Amino acid sequence: MRQPLMVAFALTTLAACGGAPGPETAPSPTRGAGGGARAAVIRGRPSIPSTWTVHSTPVTAPKAMVVSAHPLASAAGIEVMKEGGNAIDAAVAVGFALAVVLPDAGNIGGGGFIVHRSAAGQVQAIDYREMAPGGASHDMYLDSAGNVTEQSLTGHLASGVPGSVAGMYEAWKRGGSLPWATLLAPAIRLANGHRVDAERSRDIGGDSDRLAQFPASRDQFLPGGHPPAPGTLWKQLDLARTLQLISDSGPDVFYRGQIADLIVAEMERGHGLITKDDLRRYRPKWRTPIELRYRGYTIYSMPPASSGGVTMGEILNIMEGYDTLPAFGTAAYAHLLTEAMRRAFIDRNQWLGDPDFVDMPLERLLSKSYAAQLRAQIDLHHATPTPPQAASGAEGMHTTHYSIVDTAGNAASVTTTLNNGFGSAVTVTGAGFLLNDEMDDFTSAPGKPNMYGLVQGEANSIAPGKRMLSAMTPSIVLDRDGQLLLVVGTPGGPTIITTVAQVILDVLDQGMTLADAVAAPRIHHQALPDVIRYERGGLSDGTVVALRGMGHKVEMRRGTSGIVAAIQRTPAGWVGVPDPRYAGGAVGW
Ligand code: DON
Repeated sequence: MRQPLMVAFALTTLAACGGAPGPETAPSPTRGAGGGARAAVIRGRPSIPSTWTVHSTPVTAPKAMVVSAHPLASAAGIEVMKEGGNAIDAAVAVGFALAVVLPDAGNIGGGGFIVHRSAAGQVQAIDYREMAPGGASHDMYLDSAGNVTEQSLTGHLASGVPGSVAGMYEAWKRGGSLPWATLLAPAIRLANGHRVDAERSRDIGGDSDRLAQFPASRDQFLPGGHPPAPGTLWKQLDLARTLQLISDSGPDVFYRGQIADLIVAEMERGHGLITKDDLRRYRPKWRTPIELRYRGYTIYSMPPASSGGVTMGEILNIMEGYDTLPAFGTAAYAHLLTEAMRRAFIDRNQWLGDPDFVDMPLERLLSKSYAAQLRAQIDLHHATPTPPQAASGAEGMHTTHYSIVDTAGNAASVTTTLNNGFGSAVTVTGAGFLLNDEMDDFTSAPGKPNMYGLVQGEANSIAPGKRMLSAMTPSIVLDRDGQLLLVVGTPGGPTIITTVAQVILDVLDQGMTLADAVAAPRIHHQALPDVIRYERGGLSDGTVVALRGMGHKVEMRRGTSGIVAAIQRTPAGWVGVPDPRYAGGAVGW
């Protein structure tokens, strides 16, 4: 395989730059329509402060690779591949395993998206995003004074109709090769008892106040009043029974049978909205992936009901028009990226929503000529303020992404979520799984921020049966010869989009290996709040000062940005890279 760029340097070399920013060079004038198959010329020296000490530990294997946020889930994917399974089989096995071992984000009570590319080059996407219940309404999260309540976040009213079980079954029906029950076997085994590690014990502890509000959550996650201690054999027997039922009967038992009854009983207990009818009506949807071209590379990503592919496409299209780019970590580069992110998020927040409910000008938003118009508005030396509105927000890390390549070269890029950590915090009594709080991804009130500080419009307002707009960006990148190059994605709310964009840009433009790109510090801007957030130690003082001098508000974020799980095709084999920011795992074969 051809190396994507001639310049290859290790992150360690970057770190050795010790915080002294390289010469700051403005990008070359734009070429109007932008694009072409030429690599960007990088000007100046990269700048990563010596305070940035994050390094990846990649895993290389010749045949197949699974990277997820939990080593046991990655192992489940390899296990079914060793039984003859393909990337879809592995995606289903990993998805169910994550529902057991990573309860804050892995789920059967949430939803997600898969972008799949067969070794023969066919690309498909499946949308199993949650849907608003039939009883949902436009202003359901506003109090009598018009203020947004907390009910979209915690408790029974926060949940959309779950899509994960239907979605994984649909993916398996079309693309799986092993018996359905084989794919659930690792998850059932893990639910019957697995040793909890320190990271997951800490994650449960971090949300124990929310979980303790609901008796079934308390019983399952806080046995004896505490999270299972590291090393404890943790048994989730209700969940094991639920998974066994799904293994025996497929999604019917979840959407029409015994589990549906338990979900509805839970809703009645806590005054939630999901009914038997809502469950019966839930359908996953096959979608045509967004196809992007970037300097001769091809990128496939998720279309609406996710905003990921479109918003990342706008960012990349804007960046593509610069023949030369300033080096990584410089203020000049962070400025350009920020201005691209800002413009893409303004469009996201205004235009995007569920394609079954809103008409969206996707062709225009993704055209190179529109990107040229946006690029022409960028002042190379000064920030362009986003029209002001109050907003705030922070992201937890409670969605999860996994990337898979099988022995034939089929690839699956999967992001799935309950939204908040542990979703609504409500466990379905007797069924042992958490329900999502995905309703908060809708616009509760136009112009007012949601949990992630996103200020969105009517296109994403609440309506019965509608899918709430997502930022999840499961993506697949092909090299200039059309060969699979990267499988990539991350959790992180709106930072999902900017994180995936930066990992791709760091590999394709900045010449980093995937391992270095995943470890490299990231920035984020989402139009509102009008602020660049950077990871602690990730921008040098000089870069921060220079950005402020350009008129940007710059803040260090509370946590890290994203938990990438990615795979790169290299001459040495498949390189799997879990994000060093979290205790995930790459397992190769
Ligand atoms: O679909 C979305 O965009 C959000 N529900 C994702 C939430 C998320 O990534 C939370 N974790 N970081």
